[in-house]
Amino acid sequence: MTHSEILSAFNFRHACKIFDSTRKISETDFNLILESARLSPSSFGFEPWHFVIVQDPNLRNLLKPSAWGAPVKLDTASHFVLVLTMKSPLIKWNADNVLDFMRNVQHLSEDLITPRIKLFQQFQNIDFDLTDDRKLFDWASKQSYIVMGNMMTVAAMLGIDSCPIEGYNQVETDKVLQEHFDIDTTQYGISYMLALGYRLNEPKVKTRKSMAQITTWK
Ligand SMILES: Cc1cc2nc3c(=O)[nH]c(=O)nc-3n(C[C@H](O)[C@H](O)[C@H](O)COP(=O)(O)O)c2cc1C
Repeated sequence: MTHSEILSAFNFRHACKIFDSTRKISETDFNLILESARLSPSSFGFEPWHFVIVQDPNLRNLLKPSAWGAPVKLDTASHFVLVLTMKSPLIKWNADNVLDFMRNVQHLSEDLITPRIKLFQQFQNIDFDLTDDRKLFDWASKQSYIVMGNMMTVAAMLGIDSCPIEGYNQVETDKVLQEHFDIDTTQYGISYMLALGYRLNEPKVKTRKSMAQITTWK
């Protein structure tokens, strides 16, 4: 990819407010966007995320009352993703899930696992002070936001529009997920929503601070 192709993908991406509901993202393109999510980096490599792709219009409607920033996108997006992040029972240093992950996904040997868990304990309890459930969830959510960037960039490279959404009430949305989406909200919480599709209207001109305003070289 040339510099100018990379730049045009970043300029193409904008927070799309209304999608063209007649246009659908192809399966191949959407799978590539999901693959960019799957291959995203995370702290200690623990992949503390889960993606729920909501295509059923009835389920999309159930999200509307608690998601003030989403109704138009829920009605028009080709694909609508809920990005969930692990809570303490799954991501605390001594969680069974962490041990299973080291064994069955990372394929670490038992003699590597013990020091790694010790390091993870020190990281959570001392280095990053992740000492309550909220701190831990917010830290794990940071990893999920890396995924957001990757999915939006890959979408833009494919000429696909997107909009990240935090315009919802977390507690109310978690309730809807528990009641209607079969999600155990003691284990997962919602970090953000991501709508994807094709723009209906041209975006406003992009405004950004200058490079000089946001960088310091030493
Ligand atoms: C974490 C996050 C949450 C956002 N939540 C919303 C939202 O709920 N609704 C919306 O229309 N845009 C949302 N946006 C889009 C931003 O308003 C938008 O990215 C910003 O104004 C810059 O404009 P641009 O993306 O078009 O360049 C969100 C963006 C981010 C990164």
